[in-house]
Amino acid sequence: MWLLGFLVASVAAAPVKPQQAAIASAHVLATQAGFEVLGKGGNAFDAAVAVAATLAVVEPQSSGIGGGGLFLLQRASDGHEVMVDARETAPAAVRVADYLGADGRPDRNHSINGPLSAAIPGEPAGLVWIAAHYGKLPLKTSLAPAIRIARAGFKPDRRFLDELAMRKDVLARYPGSAALYLVNGQVPKPGWTFRSPDLARVLERIAEQGNAGFYGGELARTLVDGVRSAGGNWTLADLEHYEVKERAPIAFDYRGWRIVSASPPSSGGVALAEMLNILSGYELDRLDTVHRTHLMVEAMRRAYRDRAEYLGDPDFVAMPIARLTSLDYAAGLRASIHPDKATPSELLPPYLDAAQGSHTSHFSIIDRDGNLAAGTQTVNLIFGSGLVVPGTGFVLNDEMDDFALVVGKPNAFGLVGNERNAPRPGSRPLSSMSPTFVIGPDRIGVLGTPGGSRIITMVLEGILAFIDGQTPEQLVANPRFHHQYLPDVIAVEKGAFTPAQIKALEAMGHQVHESDRRWGFMNAVSWDRTTGKLHAASDPRGASGSGVVR
Ligand code: GLY
Repeated sequence: MWLLGFLVASVAAAPVKPQQAAIASAHVLATQAGFEVLGKGGNAFDAAVAVAATLAVVEPQSSGIGGGGLFLLQRASDGHEVMVDARETAPAAVRVADYLGADGRPDRNHSINGPLSAAIPGEPAGLVWIAAHYGKLPLKTSLAPAIRIARAGFKPDRRFLDELAMRKDVLARYPGSAALYLVNGQVPKPGWTFRSPDLARVLERIAEQGNAGFYGGELARTLVDGVRSAGGNWTLADLEHYEVKERAPIAFDYRGWRIVSASPPSSGGVALAEMLNILSGYELDRLDTVHRTHLMVEAMRRAYRDRAEYLGDPDFVAMPIARLTSLDYAAGLRASIHPDKATPSELLPPYLDAAQGSHTSHFSIIDRDGNLAAGTQTVNLIFGSGLVVPGTGFVLNDEMDDFALVVGKPNAFGLVGNERNAPRPGSRPLSSMSPTFVIGPDRIGVLGTPGGSRIITMVLEGILAFIDGQTPEQLVANPRFHHQYLPDVIAVEKGAFTPAQIKALEAMGHQVHESDRRWGFMNAVSWDRTTGKLHAASDPRGASGSGVVR
């Protein structure tokens, strides 16, 4: 009898495999590309390659072949978890002086626009790596939808055209960029068909030759010549030496849930561990909104302070990761939090309306075998550096701005840093990209978002909502708030709090800045392992997004 009971319990506890697959991404064509590849016998990792490459074609303002990404994978067959780090690297000839004006102050134009802002792309090598090590299909098959769409073209949506308008002046500086994205020097009208045959050829080369198709041969020479003739400093050796890194993700326990997220060179996982370790000491669900928000903000403030002080590229700097992610350290930080009073951040520069929004792109995938893939990829700011080398069909990133080019001076996201995040030849700039798995006994969530420095706090809020029982459909739509240590302000989406709640937070000493703009473009999927049911949802803030279970 006892044995029977044990067997029944064991059978009942066995996870129910998903009966379908779930994909959520920033563009309906990318989500469709993922399903197309699954239909050809691919797994979640082949689908990740297809989705990533298609986003490079249909959402080039956010991510692409000229940028990089961090891809979090969990293989169902053996539980293997890995972060594929395809983050961009600084060219060997990097010089901080190139990012300073004649007065010695940071020259933002050089760090966010044009050839000097562009780091060596990692995205192509990332796709090649994932296909070779985790996929089931040849790269030719998983890149086929992206190649087809790049050649046939598609009609960009309003967001694409609006974001083109935001970067038009920079794009107009470079003939290759103007030829690709503008029509007679102007932002195209709705109804325009965007074709990128050059990008189709680049993707075909990668499909046929792997890394050699991008980092060597004719394309490498074209890129280096194009960047140098525009005033940059890339060399063939920079491209030839680019390497994907496999890294152990940051994984930790939060109240019985296993959280897995990005490790350095992203600050995401470390900051999430620090914040959730602090918050694990409170009964958050028993608190009113104001006190819950206050404690979350205090956790955010402390984690972002440590981000600025301690984090950088793990291949170049030593970081106290074990300490920062330990429960003891969190307990010390928790002890410094007053239950009813804000702790002022150490320095209080004027409020900076730092860049935020939907540049960068995140997708989430679960396949029928229970493989998980979460990818966050970027060209940094909208349309990256704005530089398209003629004949290539893609914009280069402006990821150099993610380095602390000048110690203590904020970057485009208002983030500060020190020499740990200084640019060194071949080093990777610190990122906030946080592809994340939330693994409970019954439910698994896969989520992430673009949004610059706000990525990590959006993911924190998404994790807590998922743990609270929200579905992806609910959690991607929640109003958001954010604090990043400096500036010492809680940025709040309109409607996140009532006027009385804002007053109460201000009475605790918080400065609250309510913004008309909404931020982020979260894409999340989930799997209930007791029923096998899947959910997929794309943030209503991004109209082109698509979450599908099929
Ligand atoms: N470029 C934005 C980030 O990596 O955080």
